[in-house]
Amino acid sequence: MKTTVPRGTFDLLPDDALLWAWVEEKIRSVFRAYGYGEIRTPIFEHTELFQRGIGETTDIVEKEMYTMLDKGGRSITLRPEGTAPVVRAFIEHKLFATSGTGACKLFYLGPMFRQERPQAGRFRQFHQFGVEILGEEGPMADAEVITLAVDLYKELGLCDLEVHLNSLGCPECRGKYRQALLEYLSADSSGLCKSCQRRLERNPLRVLDCKNPKCQELTKEIPSIQDYICPECHAHFSKVCRYLDEVGVEYQIDSRLVRGFDYYTKTVFEIINQDLGAQSAICGGGRYDGLVEECGGPPTSGVGFASGLERLLTTLEQKGNLPALSMAPQVYLVMLNEEYSTAGYGLAAALRRQGIQTIVSFKVKSLKSQMKTADKIGAAYTLIIGEEEWQNKKVTIRKMFDSTQCQVEWAQVPQVLGRELAEERRRF
Ligand code: HAM
Repeated sequence: MKTTVPRGTFDLLPDDALLWAWVEEKIRSVFRAYGYGEIRTPIFEHTELFQRGIGETTDIVEKEMYTMLDKGGRSITLRPEGTAPVVRAFIEHKLFATSGTGACKLFYLGPMFRQERPQAGRFRQFHQFGVEILGEEGPMADAEVITLAVDLYKELGLCDLEVHLNSLGCPECRGKYRQALLEYLSADSSGLCKSCQRRLERNPLRVLDCKNPKCQELTKEIPSIQDYICPECHAHFSKVCRYLDEVGVEYQIDSRLVRGFDYYTKTVFEIINQDLGAQSAICGGGRYDGLVEECGGPPTSGVGFASGLERLLTTLEQKGNLPALSMAPQVYLVMLNEEYSTAGYGLAAALRRQGIQTIVSFKVKSLKSQMKTADKIGAAYTLIIGEEEWQNKKVTIRKMFDSTQCQVEWAQVPQVLGRELAEERRRF
């Protein structure tokens, strides 16, 4: 039986995996520099965590979750996002104020799962990296996570991304805005798409999120949430903007930005790469001051973001910002006779134990064929053990770049190669 990867998923092959590891390392080092500790939560959680956390009327919970019953009849769901699991772990392990800032600062990186219609930049298994600050209600925390995302992208050479910013206010301002939206949209709802007509009853804010051009046209003149937020939420938002101005983070206020989760309060934001097409958001986040309580913890503020690794890598590739990494080994060991393969295997092990990347063919082949392979895989040096070398207890070291070669005593090889490679590293 021949089978293929499920729709919306992909295999990461060795050359690409090198790039992923490179970018993951950059992400981890920037997060650590900002004082965030890594957290790894399970890939699946009890379904009610997402139902309560993300919201029953959101697209994710209504249509996109991979939910199944386990053998004990409990409903479990592959995590569609990282915020609710982090909040669950925060409550479960009582991680209050663990970062030395009076709050808890965590980061994560890993696969998420949503059963969406796959298209460019949208997968069913995708990877997010993100941060959450739990236990800080002040606007500096909002500014910190936005600045962190922008700094991280800058560190990767991405300076021309757009930051879209909005405030959804507290539940009280939201209630008033919800009412205003309902009145505005109910006046003529027949032109809205079927989903929006349903959303209108249950969660009218979601209508602003609809990508249907007709719904977008009908909501062009919709009341702005900025006119409904209370003085306290307004002051919070203004302070976030002032912090961002102070550190030179440019943003545009986008009063239609509502985001697809019910947990948001006050600040929401997205970071956009317009060149990505329909799926242009590489990062999304915001404040969620009621989520910890909703998940059974004590009243605790929260704010954070998550960014899609696939979309980030596509952006880096588009802009030519990916390094040229390859699986090319430093050394390819050529043995011309089965007789020396045990000793040759020992030499390869000695080199590998010294940290020198060494490849040995599992099968003995002709010199010509093995040299061709060494060339093809881009080895920097070839070690040749032929009859003459074997008799003289020596090894030929050939530098592939300029085809120069020398013979070295068998026991000296690790030392000589180690020196040569260190010299090369100094020069490049
Ligand atoms: P989100 O906007 O759903 O937010 O996802 C964040 C990012 O994940 C998106 O901007 C996008 O780059 C990437 N992403 C989402 N869905 C897909 C997909 N199907 N394929 C590829 N990439 C995707 C959240 O998940 C919130 N938990 C963010 C957050 C953290 N808010 C507060 N803290």
